Amino acid sequence: MSHAEDHEGTRRDFLYYATAGAGAVAAGAAVWPLVNQMNPSADVQALSSILVDVSGVETGTQLTVKFLGKPVFIRRRTEEEIAAAKQVDVSTLPDPNAENANLGPDKPATDENRAMPGKEEWLVMMGVCTHLGCVPLGNASGDFGGWFCPCHGSHYDTAGRIRKGPAPRNLPVPVVKFTDDNTIQLG
Ligand code: FES
Repeated sequence: MSHAEDHEGTRRDFLYYATAGAGAVAAGAAVWPLVNQMNPSADVQALSSILVDVSGVETGTQLTVKFLGKPVFIRRRTEEEIAAAKQVDVSTLPDPNAENANLGPDKPATDENRAMPGKEEWLVMMGVCTHLGCVPLGNASGDFGGWFCPCHGSHYDTAGRIRKGPAPRNLPVPVVKFTDDNTIQLG
């Protein structure tokens, strides 16, 4: 990757983050008029579920959107990140639970149970540190190449699992699904 590309990637991540609220509204806007006609409490419904266009998210980058007032990380992982996540012995993890709202409780924190079903390059999770709620840094940060929370030094791996530091739990995977190849529905 050239220096220029590297810079571009960093800048784009920043812009996504800075405009996350606007991006989320734009993503949901297309469905609002229809919902509005059908249901008087449409404003509540529109907020409880949003659609996100992920067609512009390149491998090795992350889109951050705001959902129900909190950041959600949508990362398109590299082959190396996926391989690293799969190598981990789940029994050695501080939190061996998948913490995935789409699965039942007490599912093991394998990479398969963390990533999007059938689309393992995509990892979607709340961008809220499970220690005291800071927003961890992405871009392959920390000792395990995933996310790093500088508040008190929590390191998350490439599947968003806590590996080191005070955070007690893996970054939670919210209710999420693909509605087509380029669209993710949150909620
Ligand atoms: S809030 Fe993340 S380490 Fe304390």
